[in-house]
Amino acid sequence: MPALVLLGAQWGDEGKGKATDLLGGSVDYVVRYQGGNNAGHTVVVGDQKYALHLLPSGILSPGCTPVIGNGVVVDPAVLLSELSGLNERGVDTSKLLLSGNAHLITPYNITVDKVTERFLGKRKIGTTGRGIGPTYADKINRVGIRVQDLYDESILTQKVEAALDVKNQLLTKLYNRRAIEAGQVVEELLGYADQIKGYVADTTLILNNALDEDKVVLFEGGQGTLLDIDHGTYPFVTSSNPTAGGACTGTGVGPTKISRVIGILKAYTTRVGAGPFPTELFDEDGEALRRIGGERGVTTGRDRRCGWFDAVIARYATRVNGLTDFFLTKLDVLTGWEQIPVCVAYEIDGKRVEELPYSQSDFHHAKPIYETLPGWSEDITKAKSFSDLPKNAQNYVKALEEMSGAQISAIGVGPGRDETIEINSFLS
Ligand code: GDP
Ligand code: IMO
Ligand code: MG
Repeated sequence: MPALVLLGAQWGDEGKGKATDLLGGSVDYVVRYQGGNNAGHTVVVGDQKYALHLLPSGILSPGCTPVIGNGVVVDPAVLLSELSGLNERGVDTSKLLLSGNAHLITPYNITVDKVTERFLGKRKIGTTGRGIGPTYADKINRVGIRVQDLYDESILTQKVEAALDVKNQLLTKLYNRRAIEAGQVVEELLGYADQIKGYVADTTLILNNALDEDKVVLFEGGQGTLLDIDHGTYPFVTSSNPTAGGACTGTGVGPTKISRVIGILKAYTTRVGAGPFPTELFDEDGEALRRIGGERGVTTGRDRRCGWFDAVIARYATRVNGLTDFFLTKLDVLTGWEQIPVCVAYEIDGKRVEELPYSQSDFHHAKPIYETLPGWSEDITKAKSFSDLPKNAQNYVKALEEMSGAQISAIGVGPGRDETIEINSFLS
C-alpha cells in the first residue's frame, strides 16, 4: 500500500489532528513533513483531550511509528516538553523518529520572529512567534543549524557564530536589541543533544524501506493550502509548503509512492492572523460560528476569524494538491441555521470569477457571491452513516462536493474519534 497525504485545504485548523489520529490506528507511520510548533492539532480520545504542536498526531496510536521529517523545523525545548507531557499522561513516545536533516529553531530565530513582527507594525503577518519564518530563512540562506549538528561541537559552534555574525548586526543596529552570545546558544543546544539522540535517524531510508515492504505511511500536514509559501495568500502565509508536494521534499519520498491526497475541509471557513479572507463575517453569524465551533487557537489562544464556506478555495485546494478526497469536518457546528450561505464564486471589479485569482490585489478585492442552502435543526452528532443525516444536511454535503472538485469521503460530526461518518475508506 503506497503513501497517503493528509493536509489542510483552507487556512489551517480544519481538524487535521482528529483525522490523522483516526487513521493512526490503521497505518504504520505518521510523518510530519513541514512546519513546526506553529501547528496546534487537537485530538480527542474518549474523555481525554490532547493538544499536539510538533509531534505527529499518530503518536497517540500505539501501533504507529511517529516521524518528524527533514522538512520540519524543530524547537528542541518544545520537543522535549511535549514528549514529557505525553509521558506523564501514560503515552509511550519511545518509537519517535527524528530526521537528522531537520533544522533546529534556535533562541535567536524566536527573537528575530518577534522583533520583526513588532517592526512591521500594522503590516505584521500575525505569526505564532515560534521562530518558524526566521528558521526557514536561515535554511534557505544556508546558515541553518540541523539536528545532526548537535553531535559535532566544533561544527555547531562555527555555524552558530556564522549565523549570529549577521543577526547581531541586525538586532543591535536596526532593532535596538542586545546582541546574542554564540557561546550561550551553543551551550543551550548542546544541553539537548543527549536527550534527543535516541530519536535521531535516517528517516528517508526508513520510510522508503517501509514503503518497499508495503507498510502504510501517512504524511500529516501542518497549517493549510492557503498558508503555503508558494500557493497561499503571500505574504500572509507560513514559511513552508503544507501543500502535497511538500510531503515529498519534506521526507525524501518520491511522488510516485503517493496514491491518495486527502484535503481536510471545514464545513465553514476560519483563519488566524492577518491577510485576506473573502467570506469573513463581522456579524452575529461570525460570532455564533466562533462560539459553537470553539474557534480559538490551540497554539496562541487567539480568536479565529470566521466565515461561510468558500467553494472557490476548496476548488483551488483540489487543483494545487491534486486532491483525491475530502474529509469534511465540523458539519455539526452548522446545525441550527435556517439558511446557510456558501460562496460559489467571487465578484472582482464587477466581473464574476470562478477560480482563485493569481493576483493578490484581485484577491484582496474579491467579494463573495453566495448561494443559500436550506439548513437543518436536528442533532447530527450521533449520525453514523450518510443516510442518518437529515436531508438538508445531506444536500449541503452533496452541494459542497460538487462545487469542490473531489469526493467527500468522510464527515466529522463532533470532535471525538467516533464522531465520524465514513463514506469511502481511505485505506483501500
Ligand atoms: P488542526 O490544526 O487542523 O488539527 O485543527 P485544530 O485542532 O486546531 O482545530 C480543530 C478543532 O475542531 C479542534 O478543537 C477539534 O477537536 C475540533 N474538531 C475536529 N473535527 C470536528 C468535528 O467534526 N466537529 C466538531 N464539533 N469539532 C471538531
Ligand atoms: P495548524 O497546523 C492556523 C498562521 C499564523 C500566521 C501565519 C504565519 O494548527 O492548522 P508562522 O508562525 O507560521 O510564521 O505564522 O500562519 N498559522 C496558522 N494558522 N493554523 C495553524 O496551524 C497555523 N500555523 C501558522 O497565524 O497568520
Ligand atoms: Mg490547529
